[in-house]
Amino acid sequence: MSMLITGIGELVTNDETVDGAVDDPLHARLGVIRDAAVVLGGGSEDSAPTVEWVGPADRAPAADWSVSLEGRAVVPGFVDSHSHLVFDGDRSAEFAARMSGTPYDGGGIAATVEATRAADRPRLRELLQQRVSEMRSQGTTTVEVKSGYGLTVEDEVTALRLAREVTPEVTYLGAHVVPPEARGSAAERAAYLDLVCGEMLQACAPHARWIDVFCEPASPHAFDGEESRRVLEAGRDAGLGLRVHGNQLGQGPGVQLAVELGAASVDHCTFLTTADVEALAGSDTVATLLPGVEFSTRQPYPDARRLLDAGVQVAIATDCNPGTCYSSSMPLMIALAVREMGMTPAEALRAATLTAATSLRRTDIGRIAVGMRADMALVDAPSWLHIPYRVGVPLVRALEV
Ligand code: NIG
Ligand code: FE
Repeated sequence: MSMLITGIGELVTNDETVDGAVDDPLHARLGVIRDAAVVLGGGSEDSAPTVEWVGPADRAPAADWSVSLEGRAVVPGFVDSHSHLVFDGDRSAEFAARMSGTPYDGGGIAATVEATRAADRPRLRELLQQRVSEMRSQGTTTVEVKSGYGLTVEDEVTALRLAREVTPEVTYLGAHVVPPEARGSAAERAAYLDLVCGEMLQACAPHARWIDVFCEPASPHAFDGEESRRVLEAGRDAGLGLRVHGNQLGQGPGVQLAVELGAASVDHCTFLTTADVEALAGSDTVATLLPGVEFSTRQPYPDARRLLDAGVQVAIATDCNPGTCYSSSMPLMIALAVREMGMTPAEALRAATLTAATSLRRTDIGRIAVGMRADMALVDAPSWLHIPYRVGVPLVRALEV
């Protein structure tokens, strides 16, 4: 069965070579087609539909079914390449304290670990599914989900298995923080690191695609450069791709380590030296910026302009988690990237779709082009520009096909 979606007022393809793209710097590199249509086909119980044709509506081929979007805009579905969705508990009071000046240092993670360990599997599944559907209702069609609130072998495996039910982009984050029961001495801390790189990794690797570490010497609960290197090398040896939480609370070794080890992405990048920027610019490692974190922690925003001007690949994601950013809204992240981080609207949209897909090393999503997955989002407005322009208005949702 093929389906023609026509009446698309403005279609963002992210395909710079597409026929009929408008030539306007406002839409730079987005491959925007006005009065467009898309033909989809091939969907079955086992496989997602794919794009079979893209172009101006007046040239569209016939299909088995046809629907008109009556002039609304369509963009590639958002790729939220960084989230922590498997958790229970409430930390809204911690947010309130931060708004009154209490700094974030990662200490609150222990409260979420306690609540998550106490929750049973059906409850965690229900919470996870609610959060994923909240994301879809705001245009997100791919999400990466990390473990990291279990921090025992059994609880980490549970989190990863649940995450695998909702996405293939599953990340083992046993090295989120040293859990409270292992903070008493240097020996206990070392034993936890052994567990993360040994038995826990062996149990978790079959359920994950990625490994991540909170590399942050500025937090007493997170990991320094040498500890992080050990975690990442062990994960790589177990066949996992590498991601890093780095340079969130201060300058540190995270970015350079990520580049040196060929990580797909280093995330946060809030405090960077010139050497960090140069290392990123000469690498395949994507810098994933998480502006909701700066919003929710009252930190300065990362300087996206500096990174883009240096030639760094920049993605944006939510980091949806109960501590530093409990928002699942990619439209809000796009608006913050434009208003607070020096990105143009076109750069921010591309960062939330195509470059975020690159940060997951995915080539089947992030663009609307022949052969790609039919992952699209509908914008209830005549132009995609309304996403940052009409900030806070729920205009975008995943297109169900
Ligand atoms: O990406 N920085 C470490 N981890 C999360 C926050 C987790 C939490 O506070 O619960 C982050 O910001
Ligand atoms: Fe995170």
